[in-house]
Amino acid sequence: MSRVLVTGGAGYIGSHILRRLVDEDHTAVVVDDLSNGHREALGSVPLVEGDFGDRDLLDELLGDRKTEFVIHMAAFCEVGASMRDPAGYYRNNLTRSLALLDAARRHGVQGIVFSSSAAVYGEPEQLPMDEDHPRNPTNPYGETKLAFERALCWYQQAYGLKYVALRYFNAAGAHPDGSIGEDHSPESHLIPRLLLNALAGGETVPIFGDDYPTRDGTCVRDYVHVVDLAQAHVKALVGMQSGRVTGDSFNLGNGEGFSVLEVIEAVGAVSGNRPATERAPRRPGDPASLVAASRRAKERLEWKPEYADLHEIVRTAWEWHRNHPRGYAGGA
Ligand code: UFG
Repeated sequence: MSRVLVTGGAGYIGSHILRRLVDEDHTAVVVDDLSNGHREALGSVPLVEGDFGDRDLLDELLGDRKTEFVIHMAAFCEVGASMRDPAGYYRNNLTRSLALLDAARRHGVQGIVFSSSAAVYGEPEQLPMDEDHPRNPTNPYGETKLAFERALCWYQQAYGLKYVALRYFNAAGAHPDGSIGEDHSPESHLIPRLLLNALAGGETVPIFGDDYPTRDGTCVRDYVHVVDLAQAHVKALVGMQSGRVTGDSFNLGNGEGFSVLEVIEAVGAVSGNRPATERAPRRPGDPASLVAASRRAKERLEWKPEYADLHEIVRTAWEWHRNHPRGYAGGA
């Protein structure tokens, strides 16, 4: 049982992590500025509303030296937006994250679980990609994640602050009990955009690029269930606490890639309603394919994903959107 500070805990992935922490009897506190998160997503976990990079706030939160771990989720996370606003991405994902790291050091935190990304790899040299694949990000988002991973590595070496970095591939799905799920505004991610269109019509969903060197010309991604991501965070924390794991980065994916067209098919099959789509130019910064080799997480973290099937992943997301067509605004 650990005492954990979760930055960005009111967000999509963060809220699923909170659920898991509570289920496993850990004590969590969230710091979140609610710029992208939702108070309704927190359940019974207390929220400190504020900036995760604010030195005074962090001193207040960590000053009693009781917090053993930080799960650092708060970040800007959109590839496209990072191409337009690299300064914002560096400031938020790197500068503020370093302030958090320094506070963790000052206050005797044992370890950090960091929300990293497949975006650290850039264009694949081979597929699937394991953790040793060269890291050459194709966008500022991936650069900031990689830079912070490297900082964690040096901080561990110099100051003994433990870390595990989790490189997610494409997070998708929702909690199977239907109470929490994805709610971004505006929504930029493929699966929720398609599901929302299947549900309520509205804006046609663009298919960004159809001339990639993939089997049908559209981008291929490895979709991983958010509940499985949550499980990995808690395993990382427990692994650090027991001294079994530290100083490592792990891919989290299912090892199977699906093209945009295949995802459209899956959404049509699950929802019974084919979403309206149209061909559009490539989105700058998008690699053609990203598929994970996640053996290391399975071996060292004892990670056991439960939702490997794309239809099952889409089905849980569909249930969430069907029951919350306006997201949390319609009631949690
Ligand atoms: N796509 C479309 N139309 C859309 C939205 C997306 O064709 O309306 C395409 C994208 O071009 C991409 C794929 O669908 O090829 C998935 O796009 P998402 O926006 O859903 O997800 P990303 O792959 O861009 O990014 C996600 C996370 C990042 C993470 C990345 C790693 O948001 O944080 O996965 O794979 F870095």
